[in-house]
Amino acid sequence: MSTATATKVFADRIGRIEVSATMAITAAALKLKSEGVNLADFGAGEPHFNTPRHIKDAAIEAIEKNFTRYTNVAGTPEIRKAIVDRHSADFGSQYTPEECVFTTGGKLALFNAIQVLVDHGDEVILPAPYWVSFKDIIQYAGGTPVILQTSEAENFRVTAKMIEDAITPKTKAIILNTPSNPSGAVVSPKDLEAIVRLGHKRDIFVLLDECYVYLNFTGNIVSGGSFLDCKEHVVVLGSLSKTYAMTGWRAGYALGPKAIIAAMSKLQSQSTSNTASMVQRASIAAVSGSQECVAEMRADYIKLRDRILEGFKTIPGLTCTVPEGAFYVYPNVKNFIGKGGVTSATDLAAKLLSEAHVVVVPGEAFGTAEHIRLSYAVSHDVVDEGVRRMREYLRKLG
Ligand SMILES: Cc1ncc(COP(=O)(O)O)c(C=O)c1O
Repeated sequence: MSTATATKVFADRIGRIEVSATMAITAAALKLKSEGVNLADFGAGEPHFNTPRHIKDAAIEAIEKNFTRYTNVAGTPEIRKAIVDRHSADFGSQYTPEECVFTTGGKLALFNAIQVLVDHGDEVILPAPYWVSFKDIIQYAGGTPVILQTSEAENFRVTAKMIEDAITPKTKAIILNTPSNPSGAVVSPKDLEAIVRLGHKRDIFVLLDECYVYLNFTGNIVSGGSFLDCKEHVVVLGSLSKTYAMTGWRAGYALGPKAIIAAMSKLQSQSTSNTASMVQRASIAAVSGSQECVAEMRADYIKLRDRILEGFKTIPGLTCTVPEGAFYVYPNVKNFIGKGGVTSATDLAAKLLSEAHVVVVPGEAFGTAEHIRLSYAVSHDVVDEGVRRMREYLRKLG
């Protein structure tokens, strides 16, 4: 490419986002793995379970029956009905299939919702620590993320009061991800209702990322989509990835007001079009079939969470909030920064990888500087071995 022509190559929008901050560590981990190094890998945010048999069978049957052609852009009427029926049965929401769009993963639901709602100059309230993609997706749309720091002493909990204080005349939307990636924090049912009502009253959209809604360990699972009189300002963003161990299938959805869903479908019609037809059939089996698999996986995640937290107690200097959902722990590592040449959480993550062969994600990726994230969606043995390696390495730092 000649610089002499000085032609501007890239559109401004692509300059507003960065590659995922987790990429560097993922690439380094992959390199070590390819060299045969045995890693205790807590990096990937995905279930260690296989996709349940009945879901795989439904996809195989769809292919065998040649259900392999284009479908409606927003998904077949059957998948959209199956999604709204599941949500209604679990949360008492009242969406029609026209108020549902089926997307190629939950991330696309989020991406499309933000693209159709957020304009240049709009502010979007984003509680930190936040999932890496939220900030970039807002910026790609031209919006400004307004980062709301939560308190670790309060278990990283988001409250309605905190949201209310962050609202300005430019606020267009609020993003709530409960349970949260990376902290596992859960917004209390009372605060969830208050935030949804606040959004409705102030004409602000509440974008509810329910990716981990079924991995809520409190026993009191609620959805902001169930406050029927506020529906006009709520967009539920769902995913089958974590709930049904289906990360590679790319199955997600949005539920919201008909006009917003229509705009999202219009955008989808000019990009991905429909989600793969056989994935839609598999997803019907997932949400309409027995939900026992979800309960079983959730029960194992609770055991894994307790196991890793017990393990952390044996590491002097490491402190950790108790996550109430998802499958992440977010320990505070400030006591190790400045010791043994460790300069930051990112540096600690790099050293844990190269010297202890433990993969973690540094907190900088999620908007906090003193933490690391571990995904405990791994076997119980990996938890034990990873904790042992961390203890040994961190002890040496002094
Ligand atoms: C908070 C959150 N939202 C959405 C997603 C997107 O999931 P997917 O695109 O696999 O459905 C993820 C995945 O890690 C996530 O952690």
